[in-house]
Amino acid sequence: MQKYWDTPPPARPSAVAALLPEAVELRHAGRRLRLAPATVLAPMSGITDTVFRRFIRDLGGCGLIMTEFTSADGLVRSEKVARRYLSFAECERPIAAQLFGNDPEVMAEAAAVVEQMGFDSIDLNLGCPAKKVVKCNGGSGLLRDLPLLERLFLRLRKAVSLPFTVKFRAGWDEAHLVHVELARLAEASGVNGLALHARTREQGYSGQAQWRWIAEVKQAVSIPVFGNGDIRSPEDAAAMVAATGCDGVMIGRTAASNPWIFRQMESYRLTGAYAPPGPADRARLIGDYFERLVREGMPGGLGKMKQFASWFTHGVEGGARLRKAVYEARTETEALARVHAFFAEALALPATAAS
Ligand SMILES: Cc1cc2nc3c(=O)[nH]c(=O)nc-3n(C[C@H](O)[C@H](O)[C@H](O)COP(=O)(O)O)c2cc1C
Repeated sequence: MQKYWDTPPPARPSAVAALLPEAVELRHAGRRLRLAPATVLAPMSGITDTVFRRFIRDLGGCGLIMTEFTSADGLVRSEKVARRYLSFAECERPIAAQLFGNDPEVMAEAAAVVEQMGFDSIDLNLGCPAKKVVKCNGGSGLLRDLPLLERLFLRLRKAVSLPFTVKFRAGWDEAHLVHVELARLAEASGVNGLALHARTREQGYSGQAQWRWIAEVKQAVSIPVFGNGDIRSPEDAAAMVAATGCDGVMIGRTAASNPWIFRQMESYRLTGAYAPPGPADRARLIGDYFERLVREGMPGGLGKMKQFASWFTHGVEGGARLRKAVYEARTETEALARVHAFFAEALALPATAAS
């Protein structure tokens, strides 16, 4: 199966680095949440846990961090859900909690929990294409029911005084695009910012994100619009801003394979250049990530290590060997020891095998 990282980036128009916006504000009833720079770590289930988010913060350049999506139902029913998905450290601020669900009353209750937990803003997921979420009319399933969406927006808006954003796809499929209508409805219902993943539900993650849909949303509303989809480099981010006029950019998969992307974008914005990470940086990052998983006893630590290795080792010299070593580990400490051994060897001897 062809993977995201095997596909060469599509040709994008050249753009000026300085176009990357320096800051953007989410405003609600006298509250202002300033995001500087105007960059967002996209919510990614299974990836953007608190350990990963702190890495992104430590590396610098990210304006807003988001949690993994969390079931509103689960949150109001069980404290465990809040502990597992919504625990965060102060250093992660500003941080938004992302919820999914379809019942306005449950959503309002869950939003109140999020506010009580001290989050800086709240985001509603209208993009998840997963069957089990869509089946219950959550995530992108809601793109087919704008009247229900309006009720959700209004109820959630009333429930909290936090800035409230919506992350959505452009429609169920190309024959049913709702991005402009949805954006206008959201703005009229008091939503304070929008992030569009410029694909339909039917597309999943295939094909190319249609950045022109982001431009159409930007033209339709005056609240901040974040563009999302297929940014793989600072140059791509600047090209998206040039092509769409979006107020900020949101980055998902690239952050998992290159967590330095936010720092690189900031450097690119300021100087027009940025440095790629070296093997020692990569060794430190994966070693630290694994150590923290072990130390903090994250649930499913070994599974997370394997998943992280699969994203993160692409572009690492000898990455295939490292992935295999991690996949075959039986315990978390064994996986960590294998990572240390791999990089000790790789950093001492010039590696020859390409991943
Ligand atoms: C493994 C994975 C998990 C994801 N989980 C979420 C999620 O919890 N909530 C959400 O809104 N989007 C989720 N997404 C979608 C991303 O936030 C983002 O919209 C998408 O990957 C497109 O952006 P990108 O091209 O920068 O990756 C996920 C994507 C991936 C690859």
